[in-house]
Amino acid sequence: MLGFVGTGLMGFPMARRLLESGYKVVVWNRTVDKARPLQDLGALLASSLREVAEKADTVMVMVSDDEASEAVVRELLSSRKGICFVNHSTVSPTHTLQARRLAEAAGSAYLAVPVMGGPSEAQRGELIGIAGGDQEALERLRQVLSAYIRELVYVGSPEEAAAVKLAVNSLYFTSMIGLAEAILLAEAWGVEPPKLFQVADRLWVKAIIERYGERLLSEGKPVRFKMRLAAKDMFYALKAGYDRGQPLPHIAALTQIFLEAATLGGMGEEDYTNVIRFLRSRAASTAQRSQTTLAP
Ligand SMILES: NC(=O)c1ccc[n+]([C@@H]2O[C@H](COP(=O)([O-])OP(=O)(O)OC[C@H]3O[C@@H](n4cnc5c(N)ncnc54)[C@H](OP(=O)(O)O)[C@@H]3O)[C@@H](O)[C@H]2O)c1
Repeated sequence: MLGFVGTGLMGFPMARRLLESGYKVVVWNRTVDKARPLQDLGALLASSLREVAEKADTVMVMVSDDEASEAVVRELLSSRKGICFVNHSTVSPTHTLQARRLAEAAGSAYLAVPVMGGPSEAQRGELIGIAGGDQEALERLRQVLSAYIRELVYVGSPEEAAAVKLAVNSLYFTSMIGLAEAILLAEAWGVEPPKLFQVADRLWVKAIIERYGERLLSEGKPVRFKMRLAAKDMFYALKAGYDRGQPLPHIAALTQIFLEAATLGGMGEEDYTNVIRFLRSRAASTAQRSQTTLAP
């Protein structure tokens, strides 16, 4: 039997895909109600992590951050030796290294397979997995993981996979905030976004408009990725550089923007693309702008 821990925005559709593919799955979520609907698809609802460890020899983990991942890994390891972990959470390379060592000391295999793609891609089985860890263990699980992962890209150790995930996310977030600021700059001079897109559409940056243009401009969109998790990802990216003596000044700025939107802006549970609303709210009003303009 497989175990699945963490049935939030991402974990829920991933666990559902496993059930729909015919696997027997025991699920656990800290807030039990979020996992309950999976029972209708045949999932066994565990009342504790110990119960997951007793029933499953392979456990997928999809929780929010280092603290959550550490709590889960430690509890599972203390309940049973020899579990095979597949950690899909976006966590830091340093935590990944520690978790891997803990697992290996307890005779467990530890794979890090953070994913690219959101809840919709998970639901369609179209995630991209960035895989790190023992290749034989990974090969044994390839078929299982194909329930929600379209393509696995093997990069080396678990901690290397964690670092690559943060590096790729920093590129995504750079593109998204870059477009948000481009829109705000154009708006500050009275230019509506379609005029900006009309030019950008003829250039290679077209892909950024296609990916984020509509999402940045639409109101009341569903939450696909929470602002506080974007802040967490960029903080972990910054810390991953720090841990190896690598300054990352642009990532430091991204961390600050998401952090401020999540805390000062009160947008922690909102979709991360709402960062444009936060940046807009920091601008002077049109009337104030004409009085505070720094240029002639
Ligand atoms: N959303 C995306 O598009 C996306 C894409 C790729 C990767 N990710 C990454 O995937 C992970 C999950 O993201 P998500 O969007 O599914 O977030 P989410 O909806 O907030 O889910 C977070 C999950 O972590 C659990 N959790 C948090 N703290 C915990 C703790 N101390 N102990 C045990 N469980 C704990 C939550 O349990 P409760 O339900 O009890 O709070 C929930 O199951 C994150 O690392 C995120 O960065 C997200």
